[in-house]
Order: sequence, then structure tokens, then C-alpha cells
Amino acid sequence: MSTDLLAADVSYLGDDDSEFFRTVHGRSLNTLNSRYMLPADRDEVKRSELHHRLLQFVFEGRNYIGPVKEALQFGQQRRILDLGTGGGFWAIDMADNFPRAEVIGIDLAPIQPRTVPPNCTFELCDLDQWSIPYPDNHFDFIHARSIHTGIRDYPRFLEEINRLLRPGGLVLLIEPSLVPIADGKPATEYPNGTGLHGWFTLWETYRACLKTQGIDTTVPQRLVELLAATDAFEKITVQDGNIPVGFWPSDPHSLTVGQLQWMDYELFLPALKPFFLSSGIPEAKAERIIADAQRDLYYPSFSPSTQLHIVYASKYLY
Ligand SMILES: C[S@@+](CC[C@H](N)C(=O)[O-])C[C@H]1O[C@@H](n2cnc3c(N)ncnc32)[C@H](O)[C@@H]1O
Repeated sequence: MSTDLLAADVSYLGDDDSEFFRTVHGRSLNTLNSRYMLPADRDEVKRSELHHRLLQFVFEGRNYIGPVKEALQFGQQRRILDLGTGGGFWAIDMADNFPRAEVIGIDLAPIQPRTVPPNCTFELCDLDQWSIPYPDNHFDFIHARSIHTGIRDYPRFLEEINRLLRPGGLVLLIEPSLVPIADGKPATEYPNGTGLHGWFTLWETYRACLKTQGIDTTVPQRLVELLAATDAFEKITVQDGNIPVGFWPSDPHSLTVGQLQWMDYELFLPALKPFFLSSGIPEAKAERIIADAQRDLYYPSFSPSTQLHIVYASKYLY
């Protein structure tokens, strides 16, 4: 195990957690990682819950896909790790679903509930800077969902997952693409001025700001390649999905997913403002980019969707 972990890297919270939050352009952000610029506040927790419920719909009521039960059956202690747990909804649901398992959720900010199942705990750690504070081969199942925008060195992150997972253990990675889709086609297939300008400009701006932070915005579509490059995993399985955004799908299941994704994005667009301003975009321009995207979200002249990249794999036994 790496030894560069300081005791202070993991925090067990007392009553006053103000040191973990700072105010940036009117929103509350974490203090552990200055490059992760999405808020850590009530609206972001709400967004985290919407994202979680959406994924449950996509997975037909479950919290995962892949041989999770099998991975947990063989573990002696049955340990589950959720990286970038957000509001902790997934970790809490998993703790309820697997009462004999120990579930640990890690995040940059203490935005999880204080009252949780007895087999669920939350800890603070910047996964981009520090070693995850657990021994080698400790976990049976590791879940990392929608976190790549806070991880500059994703290959190193995967190495950590490899270190922490026991041989035969399972990893499940889920990352939404940062390239929006309109009427089934990506932005690159549309000429300028086709009525999709606001939506596409917002995503282009977001990707550009992330790149200036050193984030590789191609990680979602390269999950398999990056996982394979570790030489540590077998049975790498891809199950990508196309998530509708809004109220255009006609079948009830897709419509519910579309509504949840729409509600998520309604919170996401204003959440980007502190990031845009901190990236040097003038306030009036940032507000216009967000307002134009909101217009496209509220009154779309196209059927928007987004690609969800989902990959699971088992760590080699030998
Ligand atoms: C978009 S939210 C997703 C939350 C949850 N995984 C879900 O799927 O609903 C991303 C979360 O990852 C956390 N995160 C981002 N970068 C991180 C890092 N370097 N270390 C720890 N947590 C991180 C953020 O604080 C945030 O709560």
C-alpha cells in the first residue's frame, strides 16, 4: 500500500463542517480540491439524487449491472466502495440491499446524510491527489459514477482501483459523455446556426473549461481502452446507453428517464456558473451561454439525448 497518506486526509466529521466548504460566486464548493468546480450544496445533492433515481430506472430497479452478487458472495467480509459518492444515495441503497456488506462512500465534501444504515460510512478524500486510505485487495466491489471531471489522472485512478480490489473483485464505471446528441447525431454533424447553438455551445464551453483544469474529457468514451491498459482486468463488458433528455420519448419508460435527465440538467446549467466565471469567462457571457442552453432545454427544436458509458470488469484472479 502507498504510504503517502496523511491522517488528516480522512475526516470523520464533527458538528462544524464549515472548513470543508467555500463560497465561490454565490455557490458553496468543496475545499479539498480547488479544481473540482461543481457546487457542493443542496441543489447539487438534489441533482445527485435525480441522477441516482435515473440510473435505477435505466437498470430496471437495481443499483448496478454486472455480476455484483457473485462478487459479493465470494468475499469474506463483503466490502463495497463508492468513489465520488455525492449525496451518498447509491451507497445507502447498497447498504440497505446488502445488509451483511460494509459500504463506504468517499467524496470531497460532507454532503451525505448523517443518519445512515449501520453498515454504511462516508469519508472525505481527494481521490485525485491522495491514495485511497485502505489496504491492498480490500474491496469486493468498487463503483465510480460520474466522477471523471474531478480526476485529472484517470489511469492512476484505475491503478488505485486495481490496488484496492481483491483478485476476482468487480469494478463498475459509469460516465456520461460530455458531447451532447441531437436527433441521434453529435454536434459535429450540424452546421452552425441550425437552432441547436445554445445547447452545443454550453457543452463546448464546459469541455474547454475542464481541459484548462487538466481534465481529459474523452475519458467516458475511452473507459474500456483505459481499463484494458491496466492489464489487470478481464471480462471487460460494455453496456452503453442512450439517455433521452426531456419529454419527447413516447414510451413511458424512456419518458420517465428523459424527465429525470431534464430535471438533472435544469439544476446542472446554473451550477456551471462558478466554474465558467472562475475560468475567466466574463459574467455577461457566462450568463448568456447558460441562458441560451436553458432556452434549448425548455423549448427544444430537436430531440436531445446523451450517451451513458457503462463498463464493468473483474480483476484477474492471478
Ligand atoms: C456528479 S457527482 C456524482 C455523484 C454520484 N457518484 C452519483 O452518481 O450520483 C460527482 C461527485 O464526485 C465527487 N468528486 C469529484 N472529484 C473527486 C475527487 N477528486 N475526489 C473525491 N470525490 C470527487 C464530487 O465531490 C461529487 O460529489
